Amino acid sequence: MDLFGISFLGLNVVPIILVIAGLVALRMFFNLNTLAWMAAWWVGLYLMLSNGITVPLPGSIVGMFMGIITLALLVYLTTSGEDLEATKDFMVKFFTDSRYSPALLAFLVLLPSLVAYNVYTGMTQQPQAPVFGRTIHPPPPTDITFKGKKIDLVNDDNPYRILKETDPDAFAAHVANGRKVYYQNCVNCHGDDMGGNGMFAHAFDPIPASFKDPTTIAMLQESYLFWRIAKGAPGLPDESTPWSSAMPAWEKFLSEEDIWDVIIFLYEYTGYEPRAKEELH
Ligand code: HEC
Repeated sequence: MDLFGISFLGLNVVPIILVIAGLVALRMFFNLNTLAWMAAWWVGLYLMLSNGITVPLPGSIVGMFMGIITLALLVYLTTSGEDLEATKDFMVKFFTDSRYSPALLAFLVLLPSLVAYNVYTGMTQQPQAPVFGRTIHPPPPTDITFKGKKIDLVNDDNPYRILKETDPDAFAAHVANGRKVYYQNCVNCHGDDMGGNGMFAHAFDPIPASFKDPTTIAMLQESYLFWRIAKGAPGLPDESTPWSSAMPAWEKFLSEEDIWDVIIFLYEYTGYEPRAKEELH
């Protein structure tokens, strides 16, 4: 069992008991002078703040509290003239008495080293990617407006796909137009083999989708692709925008027919079938 995980009223019980027990033991078994006693309190309170609270406190808050605690301990020290004198005496001795030379030396080396270490760790921290994920395939809206015309993403299908069965020549003309649209507009990002490795691809995060990857167009409906191509990154809902996608909104540049044609070309080229429309029960 994780003893350090036991919590009560938002406090981690075990670290707090350990600190209190440590302070009691110091009081009972060691005859500490006031300065050492205050140092023990300082360390104890630091350990309590950084380990004793169930929801971890941010470092800046701990730092703020430690500043207040330092001031409070100094005020405490100055309340008794005797303690203050004893502390002053001790400090003078610490810096001048040769008995304390090794301790003084250690202090003089340690303090700047600690500061240097702190600065070093602060400066060498690697940037962290944001922890929130990006939804690659968010649910599409039920319909969109394309150049003033409503397109029903649930029920509408690619109007030219049927030609594959009924009129192969006409279908071939749509594939050819789709090819033209692709190599004029999409190739620089999505790549000349649709692998998502066009010459601009490395500049983007997220990288352009690879249509050869079975987790893209192979599992999407054609109306979904229509939405993504027409509305691009600006049309994505919030859960897909932690990093900005570079996918342009093609409704400004392509006709409705061009978009259905390029979709046909994506499937013909990769050999994937579009995902069938969901049956409504
Ligand atoms: C400036 C680069 C760029 C160009 C040009 C571009 N795309 Fe994209 N495209 C992206 C990026 C980046 C993504 C991945 C991020 C996203 O889903 O928005 C993407 C995603 C897509 C998706 C979604 C795939 C999926 O799995 O959800 C489709 C479909 C798509 N692009 C089609 C096209 C078509 C068709 C063209 C040409 C008319 C085109 N793209 C041109 C950058 C581009």
